[in-house]
Amino acid sequence: MKLCMIGTGYVGLVSGVCFSDLGNDVICVDKDLDKIQLLQNGKVPIYEPGLSELVIKNYKNKRLKFSNDLKKSVIESDIIFICVGTPTKKGSSSADLSQVYNVAKEISKSINKYKIIVTKSTVPLTTGDEIEKILQKKNKKNKFSVVSNPEFLREGEAIRDFTYPDRIVIGSNDKRSSKLMKSLYNPLISKGAQFLLTQRRAAELIKYASNSFLATKITFINEIANLCEQTGINVEDISIGIGLDKRIGGRFLRAGPAYGGSCFPKDTKAIVSTAEKFKINLSLVKSVIKSNKDRSKLLLNRINKILNKKIRNKKITFLGVTFKANTDDMRDSSSLVMIPFLSKKGALIKYYDPTGSKKELEKIKNVSYVDSIKKAVESSDLVILHTEWNDFKSINFKSLSKRKKFIIYDMRNIYSPNKIKNQGFKYFSIGR
Ligand code: UGA
Repeated sequence: MKLCMIGTGYVGLVSGVCFSDLGNDVICVDKDLDKIQLLQNGKVPIYEPGLSELVIKNYKNKRLKFSNDLKKSVIESDIIFICVGTPTKKGSSSADLSQVYNVAKEISKSINKYKIIVTKSTVPLTTGDEIEKILQKKNKKNKFSVVSNPEFLREGEAIRDFTYPDRIVIGSNDKRSSKLMKSLYNPLISKGAQFLLTQRRAAELIKYASNSFLATKITFINEIANLCEQTGINVEDISIGIGLDKRIGGRFLRAGPAYGGSCFPKDTKAIVSTAEKFKINLSLVKSVIKSNKDRSKLLLNRINKILNKKIRNKKITFLGVTFKANTDDMRDSSSLVMIPFLSKKGALIKYYDPTGSKKELEKIKNVSYVDSIKKAVESSDLVILHTEWNDFKSINFKSLSKRKKFIIYDMRNIYSPNKIKNQGFKYFSIGR
């Protein structure tokens, strides 16, 4: 099939590349010419394991193209995916849909034959209805269908998540488009992926409800971890103990710092805001948002306690600053709350991240990037394991602490408490 992905951000690029790998002809469109030229030279602007290899392979065999000509790309395609950003609107908690609607207006000028317009961007309930209205202004109803096909990729695991999805959700209000969408996904369905066909609005809501539920699960175990810390219980026993109940499930029950990233914080706020438009109070999701916001403060209090309330002039190291491993993404990372706070309190902060230094931390006083784990930890007072990169899992702390014994605060529970304590370190972790 001939596909066009509008927006070469995370969702558009990953799914475009993966669709081309399944044998489709795909044009990835972006108005950012620099990005397009970078991609045409086989360079990928985001960090995602395995993506670069797939870009090069499919670009070489000409199934994958990159263009900044939206009009031409739409005319040449049968299915057009809208994959532009839907960030939180400034000064509000709802999603900013201006990019989505602008793209819909552009598409509406280039519908030369029947096309399916698909929202893959995370868009609130009823966005499809609005897109349909925009398209109807210039086109007859039988010339297009508007479909919702939410994306459930995780950063860092995106290629695997695309290739082996738990489910494929298509929200369509007509048979013609649902049939075509199903055949597009047939290579994945025939390998065992569940296919769910719903009304368009339902698919839109499934995306937000999924992210809100996952955020709730994480927040729940984080709160239980607080209780474990006060009672000498290991939160990991609780995660296993409740997760073995199939109705609960063991995944997304890892306690840690506040959840972050480009999706959970934004989408939980947006679903609350959408519900308010329909006069529905999502009190549970509101509590999750608050609890997650409070979590960084809570962990900062713990740091204060660990350092006997003496943060000033303490050398603090962050191992990993991204919101999770296998990504260079800093969006809503809890490090962006903790590092500025500790710097304000007079700490001297070094950080190391496998994806390099971060512009978000450049201007913060007494914060510097170092390019190795050794340099980061050797003269430190407190080492905070913030992100669970594999690179940090087998650090030989003993050999790195010859000059000085530091305290370790493992916010992802990646080390064995006994092993680390037996090496003579003061060791703290989450919920155990
Ligand atoms: C999330 C969802 O998992 C994807 O299904 C969804 O497609 C995506 O948002 C999106 O809407 O685009 P992502 O933001 O890439 O994916 O990252 P996750 O792996 O879900 O992690 C989000 C945050 O939760 C991270 O800060 C992570 O450290 C935290 N987390 C996750 C925990 O603290 N504990 C866990 O058990 C799992």
